Amino acid sequence: MTAPFRVPVRVETERLVLRHWDPDRDVDDYHALIVDNADRLRRWMPWAAHEPLSRADHAQWLAQCAAWAEQGGRTFLAITDAATGRVIGSAGLHPTNSPRTREIGYWLAHGSVGRGLATEVVVALTEVALGSARANRIEILTLPDNASAIAVARRAGFHDEGLTHDTHAGVPMALWAAGHTWNGPCRVRRIAR
Ligand SMILES: CC(C)(COP(=O)(O)OP(=O)(O)OC[C@H]1O[C@@H](n2cnc3c(N)ncnc32)[C@H](O)[C@@H]1OP(=O)(O)O)[C@@H](O)C(=O)NCCC(=O)NCCS
Repeated sequence: MTAPFRVPVRVETERLVLRHWDPDRDVDDYHALIVDNADRLRRWMPWAAHEPLSRADHAQWLAQCAAWAEQGGRTFLAITDAATGRVIGSAGLHPTNSPRTREIGYWLAHGSVGRGLATEVVVALTEVALGSARANRIEILTLPDNASAIAVARRAGFHDEGLTHDTHAGVPMALWAAGHTWNGPCRVRRIAR
């Protein structure tokens, strides 16, 4: 069996720090962020159908994220503003059914869109996935009419592979992919393992 890949605990880019969620330190920020953005998340992300859940549910979720990150493999990261440390969104780098394919997910708080930050996240996680996370293919799944998310995938240098199905929710999803020929701009400045 292939050993699980590990995502660095901290990835620094020009404007962001992507870091593993800390259940104790982050629960209030995470809960507030979800409550504040629940309408947008429900609209575009199948996993968010029942958000906003309670603070206790979110505490349990972050504890689960920490356990996954510790084991290696499925990894959720806080997207934070490098200048202030403020949490402004969440990203994921996950295994798939194919051993060397990873999936990237991302969302930003409404106040942080329109600055190219999601593209910065996707480019950085693609670099990480093709490097230390031993992938040779990265996928992004979006609802087919999620123009903002598709624009991020396109800007980050992914190509359109048509429709597939969300393995969890079973709904049709647009599939965007990048492989070992990906030649995106280098955005990672520093990595802490
Ligand atoms: C999808 C989502 C993350 C996209 O966020 P975004 O801010 O539009 O995407 P980016 O961070 O790449 O920013 C792009 C915008 O910033 C602008 N921009 C400003 N400065 C920029 C820079 N330095 N570099 C790149 N773009 C820049 C671009 O022109 C573009 O503006 P436009 O939307 O008016 O064309 C956000 O809409 C979201 O969180 N949606 C809800 C959840 C969701 O759908 N997640 C994806 C599920 S797959």
